[in-house]
Amino acid sequence: MTLQVPQPLPDIKAGQFLSLRCDPADRHSLLRPFSILDHNAFDGTLSIYFKALGRLSEFMFSLKPGTELDCLYPLGVGFPWQEDLRRVALVGGGVGLAPLLYMSRQLEPYSPNIHVVAFLGGASAADLVPELLADYELPMELATIDGSTGLKGTVVELFARSEEYFDVIYTCGPNAMMAALQQCLPHDTKAYASLEEYMACSVGACYGCTTVIKANGEERNLRVCREGPVFDLRSVVFA
Ligand code: FES
Repeated sequence: MTLQVPQPLPDIKAGQFLSLRCDPADRHSLLRPFSILDHNAFDGTLSIYFKALGRLSEFMFSLKPGTELDCLYPLGVGFPWQEDLRRVALVGGGVGLAPLLYMSRQLEPYSPNIHVVAFLGGASAADLVPELLADYELPMELATIDGSTGLKGTVVELFARSEEYFDVIYTCGPNAMMAALQQCLPHDTKAYASLEEYMACSVGACYGCTTVIKANGEERNLRVCREGPVFDLRSVVFA
């Protein structure tokens, strides 16, 4: 879905998210978080990527062009990056595709000085949305559980088979996938995860989205919407 928003757009980093009132007629419903897929500073648009998995997301497919929706953006902290991180792996699946593809867009201006490879996985070929991936020119390696495209297996198995060295890994997707990736991180590679979590306020007020983060031997409950959603993958304590 593409949203026309007031200009000028603020700086937005891949991994940040926006919060949207999905049903404009329901003033009592909470705003829901969505990953940002892309933005266009020239025409003032933001794109989000979502699947119809519940009542509200299904309802969004019935919205007509021109509908006005309350929206807060950008929220949270995005993926950190600096110019010496030249070999970049994007590893993810599901709606986690969105921040990873957005990250690839944000790294495009640095081409050809950096090398970006996307390792993407899903249940089946349709899950990987070929018509969406066709808009991106970066090298992609694919895995599907049913083997309908790419490697038959998980995206973590796909990544683990790679013999390439990467300076940094960015990941987003189901927790089980990121927990498995955490177990096979190359020793000296930085790794950042954009976590998905149920949210109520999305702005740090309700503490309904906390997750356990371990740093300097200490475990703390941090808010995914405020201190996250991006954390050092090694610091995340997956349940
Ligand atoms: Fe309320 Fe994060 S959703 S603090």
